[in-house]
Amino acid sequence: MRDVEKEYEYDKWLKVFEFVKKKIESGESNLTRILSSLQFEMRQTTDRTQFGSGEQKTDLSLAFALGGNQAQISSIIKGEKGFGSKHVYEFGSGFGRNLFWLWLHGGHRSANYVGCEFTNSGRKASRLLATICDDISFADHHIDFYNFDTYPENADNSIVFTVHSIEQVSETPDGLVETICKKFPNSKIINFEPIGWQIAKYHNKSSNFSSRAYAEKHGYNTDFFDQLKAAETKKKVKIDKALIDEICVNTSNGTSIVVWSPVN
Ligand SMILES: C[S@@+](CC[C@H](N)C(=O)[O-])C[C@H]1O[C@@H](n2cnc3c(N)ncnc32)[C@H](O)[C@@H]1O
Repeated sequence: MRDVEKEYEYDKWLKVFEFVKKKIESGESNLTRILSSLQFEMRQTTDRTQFGSGEQKTDLSLAFALGGNQAQISSIIKGEKGFGSKHVYEFGSGFGRNLFWLWLHGGHRSANYVGCEFTNSGRKASRLLATICDDISFADHHIDFYNFDTYPENADNSIVFTVHSIEQVSETPDGLVETICKKFPNSKIINFEPIGWQIAKYHNKSSNFSSRAYAEKHGYNTDFFDQLKAAETKKKVKIDKALIDEICVNTSNGTSIVVWSPVN
């Protein structure tokens, strides 16, 4: 069994699916209330945490950090120029929380929101959540970064984003960046990934809240930014921004942000 099946298919996202199903069966029909209770009831939100950003570490309540994290993801996506797009894709979307919060935070009304996820339990949970949100256009798709060429869609002028899902592939599969370019021309890609340490070496800097040691210990990605830089050298992509350690709810595996687009 693959690690993603052990950790997500049969554990985390299955629990989320069951939680959402029970809430709906008990009469809950409000998307915000269910997403919020997922955060409050399934995580220790009365705890405090160390939150990092840039070089600063601040003691915050975990609820504050998680809420701010979610709002900031939405606001960065909405702030990108391409965000009038017809299609918004998340790769490795889990149960779809980032897409649903993006919608609730005022994301483009007539766009199609597409949750692309490896696990069946994650996709099932996202489908269930979409049933209690009348006016969102939501679809889900199976993807596997290791077999991405088989992904059926070709969509130009899209927003495509990832949140700690490239993280899950220790080595970026060959051709992933090129395939994304081929299938999503004229699109904006935004990665929220714990790759500050990868970016830092191109800028003669260091990352305070991510490291190769942590990535290797957890089998997390070690080369995505190298692949992007290689594609940039070949003029296949244009990297607009690479922001180290922007949103670090976990100060050992903090989130950096890369914004890029295919060169067509
Ligand atoms: C840390 S979770 C993040 C989920 C979601 N982005 C979020 O922020 O809630 C990592 C996600 O990557 C997915 N994933 C792991 N390996 C994958 C692969 N090879 N292809 C596609 N998705 C994968 C997992 O199933 C899981 O949903």
